[in-house]
Amino acid sequence: MKSLRLRTYLTLLPVVVAAVVVSGYSTFLESRVALTRLANRHLAYKAEQLRDYINNEWEVINSLGLAGEEAYREAQEESFRSYAYSLLRSDTEQVLVIDASGVPAYRIEARGAREEPFADGATETRVSLPAGWFSREVLGEDRVGISFSFEPFGWTIAISELSARFFSDVDGILRGNVLMLAVALLCAAILTAAYLRRLIGPLERLSGAISRIADTGDLSLRATVESKDEIGGLASRFNVMVSSLEAQNLMLSESNKAEREARETAVLREVETLFLLGRISDFNDEKTGAHLKRIGALSALFARLLGQGPEEEDLILKSSTLHDIGKIAIPEAILQKPGKLDPGEFSVMKRHTLIGYELLKDSNSHYLSQGATIALTHHERWDGNGYPRGLSGEAIPLPGRIVSIVDVFDALVSDRPYKSAWSEEAALEYIVSQRGRQFDADLVDLFRTHIAEFTEIWA
Ligand SMILES: [Fe+2]
Ligand SMILES: [Fe+2]
Repeated sequence: MKSLRLRTYLTLLPVVVAAVVVSGYSTFLESRVALTRLANRHLAYKAEQLRDYINNEWEVINSLGLAGEEAYREAQEESFRSYAYSLLRSDTEQVLVIDASGVPAYRIEARGAREEPFADGATETRVSLPAGWFSREVLGEDRVGISFSFEPFGWTIAISELSARFFSDVDGILRGNVLMLAVALLCAAILTAAYLRRLIGPLERLSGAISRIADTGDLSLRATVESKDEIGGLASRFNVMVSSLEAQNLMLSESNKAEREARETAVLREVETLFLLGRISDFNDEKTGAHLKRIGALSALFARLLGQGPEEEDLILKSSTLHDIGKIAIPEAILQKPGKLDPGEFSVMKRHTLIGYELLKDSNSHYLSQGATIALTHHERWDGNGYPRGLSGEAIPLPGRIVSIVDVFDALVSDRPYKSAWSEEAALEYIVSQRGRQFDADLVDLFRTHIAEFTEIWA
């Protein structure tokens, strides 16, 4: 992606270059025209002088009636050549005299010989020059000059300068102009870049600041307000926006924190309440609540070994403590009876499952809701001989099947008013003996395989 600065530079630069080139070239043309005009005037002046001189001489001789005299004619020619020589200022200026047949007769120039009469037949070249300005090759040289004719001798007289010399000043100006043009272009490019840096720099820095904030999400950063123009206004409005976002963010995170704390407190209360509920039912058997804690931990270990997630583990950890909640409605005489219950008492005792279920079933809490399931099904048997409904196999919900094993195991290894504690080995032996009868065979296998981990919790 081209940057704004580069794009603006590439747009502006051709305009600036075109302006510099056009103005430089027009200055050059003007100089050339002015200089050429000056040089022309210079040559024209000399041509006029020559023409006036030779005409005046001729008029004097003619008025004295001496025009026919050969000696006077030669003297006039000599005088003309002498005068022509005196007019030459550069060693490449030249006065050329061409006779009536177009053959060059004299070449008068400052360089070399003062005058160079062409010997008869020395040159076969015929030179024909128009009257007035010319710019052409004359005797092998490119020349610029003015010619006029002098009728009495049949001469064409031309005063001229080498083209290269004539335009040498112009060429010097051209070289100077090209150099100045190059310098001007370089300056234009540098100045344009500097101008753009000054103009677009603040915008680039503002864009950089915005990107940094967007990339890092750090709302404590601000853009620098460098000027009071539109870009400065943009930066300051952006800062106001970020400040407002930062304030809102802070409020949001504080309210999130408060909400999180409230939720954690509520969960804590719920867990405490659940545990308390469980303890009410268990209070006669177990004053410390240790049985319930173990049931929770052993059930959670089952969930973990079955590959369930942390949420299910937590759910069974807390809901399993409610398995005997229905016992609160069972008369103490039955609960505390040291010996075996008679069939009537036992049928009253069985009701603790249904009572627990009725107490918990309509709750919105998923702990209480699963607690209801466990309360109802923790005395069902895999072979269908359990109570209260005589469910069998997988018709018994998994949490009920789990709690059924850990509740029996924990009861066996604990002291109770009506029995003393069994050894862990004896308790495990009993559990295994009920594999596929009272208990789910797969769960029993899992329990036996991991017995060390289970008894670790118990210890
Ligand atoms: Fe029970
Ligand atoms: Fe129990």
